[in-house]
Amino acid sequence: MSDPNATHAHANPAHCTTARGNRVRWLGVAMVALLATPCALVWAQQVNPDETGHEPVQTREALARAKPVTAKHAMVVSAQHLATLVGVDILKRGGNAVDAAVAVGFAEAVVHPCCGNIGGGGFMTIHLKDGRNLFLNFREKAPAKATPTMFQDADGNVVDGRSTDTYLGVGVPGTVMGFATALKAYGTMSLQEVIAPAIKLAREGYILKQGDVDSLDSRTSDFAEHANVAAIFLNHGKPFKVGERLVQKDLAHTLELIAKGGTKAFYEGSIAHTVVKASDANGGILSLQDFADYTAQWEKPIQCQYHGYTVVSAPPPSSGGTTLCLILQIIEPYPLAKWGYGSVNSVHYLVEAERRAFADRNTYLGDPAFVHNPIDRLLSDEHAAELRATILPDKATPSSEIKGSLGAPEGNHTTHYSVVDKDGNAVAVTYTINFLFGNKQIAGDTGFFLNDEMDDFTAKPGVANGAGLVQGVVNQVEPGKRPLSSMTPTIVLRQGKPFMLTGSPGSATIISSTLESFLNVVEFGMNMQQAVNAPRLHQQWYPDVVYAGEGLLTPKSQQTLEAMGYTFKRFSGGAVEAILINPETGVLEGANDPRRPAGLAAGY
Ligand code: DON
Repeated sequence: MSDPNATHAHANPAHCTTARGNRVRWLGVAMVALLATPCALVWAQQVNPDETGHEPVQTREALARAKPVTAKHAMVVSAQHLATLVGVDILKRGGNAVDAAVAVGFAEAVVHPCCGNIGGGGFMTIHLKDGRNLFLNFREKAPAKATPTMFQDADGNVVDGRSTDTYLGVGVPGTVMGFATALKAYGTMSLQEVIAPAIKLAREGYILKQGDVDSLDSRTSDFAEHANVAAIFLNHGKPFKVGERLVQKDLAHTLELIAKGGTKAFYEGSIAHTVVKASDANGGILSLQDFADYTAQWEKPIQCQYHGYTVVSAPPPSSGGTTLCLILQIIEPYPLAKWGYGSVNSVHYLVEAERRAFADRNTYLGDPAFVHNPIDRLLSDEHAAELRATILPDKATPSSEIKGSLGAPEGNHTTHYSVVDKDGNAVAVTYTINFLFGNKQIAGDTGFFLNDEMDDFTAKPGVANGAGLVQGVVNQVEPGKRPLSSMTPTIVLRQGKPFMLTGSPGSATIISSTLESFLNVVEFGMNMQQAVNAPRLHQQWYPDVVYAGEGLLTPKSQQTLEAMGYTFKRFSGGAVEAILINPETGVLEGANDPRRPAGLAAGY
């Protein structure tokens, strides 16, 4: 396994060379200085931006010093160090980026149980060395017995917790099908080989670090509610402490069944039977047929251009790529680099672009197998120009004045990781069980948490979901439908070659975190680590507030923006796990987000 402390790049803290090659004075650093507070690396939960997580505050000095981990040949960045090392090991043994991505995904199901999973679903964006861009959709599906009003009571009120804490919130999991599908199509190793490290970590256990314990601690009382969960995730009834070993024998057994029996073991064998039995016993609607019918699908990725970069990202049923591209297309003509990171103008135009893009997202996007997604219209130059024309130069636009701009529509927990191999294959994966530890329940002795992904649907048009998103009828629950996601696994190309892999957890904030990790490099001259660490910004139409990370704004900028009509709330934003491939040197620059202190960037 590789040395995580590989050689570091050197960065001049005051002047950073942008990836576009121009030298830009990084004004944001000076602003951050004004709000300097001690740097603390704290694991931050982020699902609903209103549930403010603790942010590792970036002092001027800390942010200016931040440097990516560098490697010559190949790299993995994930939210859990042991999973990263599993991926690097696979790459060193000659596996390609797909082999490593699948191995990391199974490993994270063990060592990052809040978020890594086999009980949820996700998306994989792939760039192959031959130039092809691919996208795999392994999003969960609503069970066949699901109905549009299943999360409402007899009076039509949304029932608190039903979509997040019960078996009704569980979508048919897609992760195992997704990983097996990707591996078979583009990997070089067997399922047994790539699952083996995960089985070992589950059977032998692993020593918990502070970041792991912080994550487990956030759900201690939920674990205590179910004996089979408490037996694994509490240590004789008490929260685990740093330095203790977490062993997951049940999960090891489940992973062994998958390694031996493939997707059949999960979707038709004893694993499906155990989940359906638990669902039946607890008021759920999952059936064996739902599992047997599950498929993962290859889709055409969303692509857009931004100042010569090609952004390749997630199409529906994720809103991620479309919303990201719509924001980029609105802001492209503005001189963000000149205005600077955290400046009044940059914040104003970014917020207004996000507000309009999220209004469209929440109104028009849903599973394309069920509803028409007007992507061509949303991503047309004319549409971006129309939206741009509605932005007032010196005033916030209230969200109540913004509607989905095409007229009436027709008809939180997650993790991201990035892998690049020695040949230039690149894989970006975001997968999730929605909220931290999903619905917090484990079916029988399966050992894995089930998702609560059904909460991503519109429980009732106009009523906010757990992520605070106010969505419409296009994303209502229907049998076999996939809930609209914000996951945005993204590969940015420069002259056809991978330039950046990025993505994040954080529900709706995924989109802004991903966007900013890119803009911070190409507009604001940051290196990859600074771009990931920097305080973030987010607006999602409703609520009509602007979420800003601590240190983003000077008190004076904040006052100016408040006078323009903005209301600010503190937030932390997601956890970006990114790789930049330096176009001049070819060196890989990996950046784990300090908001996930258990994570690691490593390569060789
Ligand atoms: O697919 C989605 O957009 C959400 N289910 C993702 C949830 C998430 O990111 C939670 N938190 N970090």
